[in-house]
Amino acid sequence: MKISASLLDANFQTLQSEVNSLMGADRIHLDIMDGHYVPNLSFGLPVLSDIDFPVEIEAHLMVNNPEYFFEDLLELGVSGLIFHIENTGIPKALEILDTLKSIQIRSGIALDGYTSPDWLSDEILRAADQILVMSVKSGFGGQSFMRESLEKIKTLRKRGFKGEIEVDGGVNLENAMELKKAGADIVAVGSFLMEKSVEEREGFIQQFQKI
Ligand code: DX5
Ligand code: ZN
Repeated sequence: MKISASLLDANFQTLQSEVNSLMGADRIHLDIMDGHYVPNLSFGLPVLSDIDFPVEIEAHLMVNNPEYFFEDLLELGVSGLIFHIENTGIPKALEILDTLKSIQIRSGIALDGYTSPDWLSDEILRAADQILVMSVKSGFGGQSFMRESLEKIKTLRKRGFKGEIEVDGGVNLENAMELKKAGADIVAVGSFLMEKSVEEREGFIQQFQKI
């Protein structure tokens, strides 16, 4: 299973060394917040642009008007942009998916912890490269894993979604195995990894990759 390491619970005073300790991960997951879609803030583009990322980066936008941030994030070098369907609704989401396709950027639709997969129309499932199934209510690291996400993944696969399914929120080595069985391809891991010492992280990253 692939792992995307989330920086939300990193030590921001030593952000570059935190990032360097995640070098073995498949991706680094950047949680962008604006205090509107979620009641929290994380880091902004000026902070991120001072960092050298040794691995692929993806952005998870928990903001109103995600498209406002695309240009800067593309300049930063993201390989994928993930935005919330609860925020855009279907018509705008389809427009954004189209734009991302035309510039060959992996497009991801996020489904919040309490949102039913029924929110995702078949058209959305055909157009999106990736669905990010959140297994917590978005906005904060360190919350408990919602087991309902296992069913959501199975539902998406039953409906024929062939793209990448990423799961974000409360992921640890135990539930990652169940997530893989349910049909997930990649997990975003925050506090479970960041609570470990810098030296230990590489070993834990490899354990996820062995699942
Ligand atoms: C929360 C963010 C997550 C967060 C996950 O809304 O989207 O990416 O960093 O952190 P953990 O793994 O601690 O739940
Ligand atoms: Zn996230």
